[in-house]
Amino acid sequence: MCGIIGYIGNKSINSILIVGLIRLEYRGYDSAGIAVIDQGDLEIRKEKGKIKNLEDLLKNSPVEGNIGIGHTRWATHGEPTKLNAHPHIDCFQKIAVCHNGIIENHINLKNELIQKGHLFRSETDTEVIPHLIEEELLKDPNQTIKDVIPGLIQKIEGKYAIVILSEQEPDKIYFIKNGSPLLYARNNEEGYLTSDIVAVIPQAKEYYAFRDYEWGWITQYELHLFNKDAQKIIPEIKEIKIDPIHLEKGNYEHYMLKEIYEQPDIFRKILNNRLGEKGKIKLNEMKLPNTILGRISRILITSAGTSWHAGIVGKLYLEHFARIVTEVDLSSEFRYRNPIAEGDTLVIAISQSGETADTLAGVLEAKTRFCKVLSFVNRLESTIARESDSYIDLMAGPEIGVASTKAYTSELIHLLFFSLYLSGIKWITNKEDREVLFSEIRKLPTMMEAILEKSKQIQEIAKIFKKTKDFIFLGRYFNHPTALEGALKLKEIAYVHASGYAGGEFKHGPIALIDENIPTICIAPKSSVYDKMLSNIQEVKARKGKIIAIITEGDKNISQIADYFIEIPEVSEYLSPILSIIPLQLFAYYSALERNCEPDKPRNLAKSVTVE
Ligand code: M6R
Repeated sequence: MCGIIGYIGNKSINSILIVGLIRLEYRGYDSAGIAVIDQGDLEIRKEKGKIKNLEDLLKNSPVEGNIGIGHTRWATHGEPTKLNAHPHIDCFQKIAVCHNGIIENHINLKNELIQKGHLFRSETDTEVIPHLIEEELLKDPNQTIKDVIPGLIQKIEGKYAIVILSEQEPDKIYFIKNGSPLLYARNNEEGYLTSDIVAVIPQAKEYYAFRDYEWGWITQYELHLFNKDAQKIIPEIKEIKIDPIHLEKGNYEHYMLKEIYEQPDIFRKILNNRLGEKGKIKLNEMKLPNTILGRISRILITSAGTSWHAGIVGKLYLEHFARIVTEVDLSSEFRYRNPIAEGDTLVIAISQSGETADTLAGVLEAKTRFCKVLSFVNRLESTIARESDSYIDLMAGPEIGVASTKAYTSELIHLLFFSLYLSGIKWITNKEDREVLFSEIRKLPTMMEAILEKSKQIQEIAKIFKKTKDFIFLGRYFNHPTALEGALKLKEIAYVHASGYAGGEFKHGPIALIDENIPTICIAPKSSVYDKMLSNIQEVKARKGKIIAIITEGDKNISQIADYFIEIPEVSEYLSPILSIIPLQLFAYYSALERNCEPDKPRNLAKSVTVE
């Protein structure tokens, strides 16, 4: 939610900030703006809507300079208008601030500042920051911003990543971080501040991810870093290892489509890395020792959205393969329900971004209860990865489309691998049994490709249903989460109401919805619950409901009853959710196109939800 960038170097600021903001646009696209020191003056340009609008504004009203900050907004306080767009300024337009997060006590602060004569121009919480800095600087003309930041941290409450540019200090960008992500990145000639490293590659070569309450400033060549008590910190700078190829759309019209199509190759990479000799699973970065893993008596999974759906599959894997009692909780609930997490409970956090505020709060909560925390993350530089006792790298490569696709299947396979890893430690499955599983797992990339070849057929089905207003998704056991995830995809990018249900639960209420206008998407590959799903399909048919079925290749029973069917290759039921979601990802994508929706940037959403 909200993306921030700051730059100092020799290059012209416009292109650097705009390219960075485009890369950060997945974090919010309600408005965008930049502040630049142009020949000694602080210049602001901002516009409502996507970065494209800001680009157009800059063509008519250009700015020049080598130092600047930028912001792309996901509105929290105040409507998505030009006035509410960041950067926000002090009374005299000498100080500009971009902010990601929420200043919870902004109302009181704003009232006090208004009483002191400050002029507010927006409805945002952020605007108190430049005025608070201005107010403090007025008290003593010898002060610079570095002198007022420790006091500012004391005054503002909430979560924030803040960057500050001042006309008075044209060679520095200040920053403060608490709760929302912020990183420093650099090469030999340039310094950057950014919410996400993807905004600054391939130019930047090294990075440092700030910790809470760290603050300081960057110059072209240096980072000056301090803690809350204003003590100097020596940062541990790391190399950036992300391949920039992931950030290009290539020949695809949208990132989402590209990311759906990347899945077979990502799986090839994952399998190469994870499958060892003689049934051995390699999780080299996972540092929890067998002495701890062998003692786990209970697992609590906490995650949100798509990652929560992955968590439900993960519970089935962990209970099936490792025979460990596992609970799955929405991270937004977990953090407030005083969870029983103690002793030999392992808390697993699943998060593509590694920055989801609710999931991070769950991780911190678990740590206060002395539980070990293992996170499954796609971004190793993320806060959740850092705060966990250990992490497992999802290896999906940066995911840019707001709708999660490749990260979901990567979460599933890694949850399966971790379950098998635990089952090995507990001597539940032996190496030989695991080898048998591996031989099937190795076929997944080719099976995925076979499904992707059906994309035209899926597009046709999306076209047929382009006016449909409601969909029901049904699945059971390993594919109940597929029903939830398929429905979420359709809701978020095609703005169609869709609800996912467990097949067995259908008769307890939702079946009342069925008529000829509400189609049901049934996920019914061959499995131990196949007959039950077949009964569900018959029940829908008997009530004149249309059926779109996801079935195993060659299934004559369902293909004869369903109005439309999409075949997936035959596979064990525990691998089936990895395959059966792919046609639903494509169905959501093509449904969005049919309805003139923009799949990569659905309205009201942001990819990384860093506020509560
Ligand atoms: O980065 P995370 O996996 O923690 O994100 C969790 C959810 O915000 C995310 O999965 C969201 O539901 C996606 N838009 C789903 O496509």
